[in-house]
Amino acid sequence: MALRLGDTAPDFEAQTNKGPIKFHDYIKDSWALFFSHPADYTPVCTTELGALAGEAKDFDALGVKLVGLSADDVESHQGWIKDIQQFSGNQVDFPIVADADRKVSTLYGMLDNQDATNVDAKGIPFTVRSVFVIDPQQKIRLILTYPASTGRSFPEIRRAITSLQLGDKKKITTPANWTPGDKVIVHPSVQGEAVKELFGDNVETVFPYLRFTKVESS
Ligand code: BEZ
Repeated sequence: MALRLGDTAPDFEAQTNKGPIKFHDYIKDSWALFFSHPADYTPVCTTELGALAGEAKDFDALGVKLVGLSADDVESHQGWIKDIQQFSGNQVDFPIVADADRKVSTLYGMLDNQDATNVDAKGIPFTVRSVFVIDPQQKIRLILTYPASTGRSFPEIRRAITSLQLGDKKKITTPANWTPGDKVIVHPSVQGEAVKELFGDNVETVFPYLRFTKVESS
């Protein structure tokens, strides 16, 4: 069964470039971004991990731990990381799971089912660009799947995590193309006296079901 929003992120033990990890122990009480890339020593992946390494402090500021994965071994990760650092000028400080046997990628449904170029020498699929955002209760809160051809936007992933965190705290949702500081939407479940209690007079009602408000972004 495919993982769905609200499921507990499956636990696993694995080797990484930073040593062995027990996933739940590692992400314990934090938000986490668990993501796969197709393979070490490939071009798009090199740009992605370099960019993410440069934005790691921004994820840290949101309390988000980063954990990568591909179907390569630890030695490959360690060698490739040197290239990423040389290319991007950014230090890769997060663990990347070495999933050469594809146990974890199978558990998370990360293997490519459609790109005949995204396979190893034996024709066995590599992973796609999966993204799982996991909350401090270890529930999956967001899933994205990008094909091997298309590098991800990490500012977009941070924007979505910021929306989730704000929504958990303030009973709001966020509109299309929202960025932190913009108006937000009163959650549809907030009705009656609760609207005033939570947002005072700071509510702009466009339709009864579309009510904008302003909240502090942190
Ligand atoms: C890449 O990272 O550039 C890539 C990896 C696998 C297939 C296609 C592209």
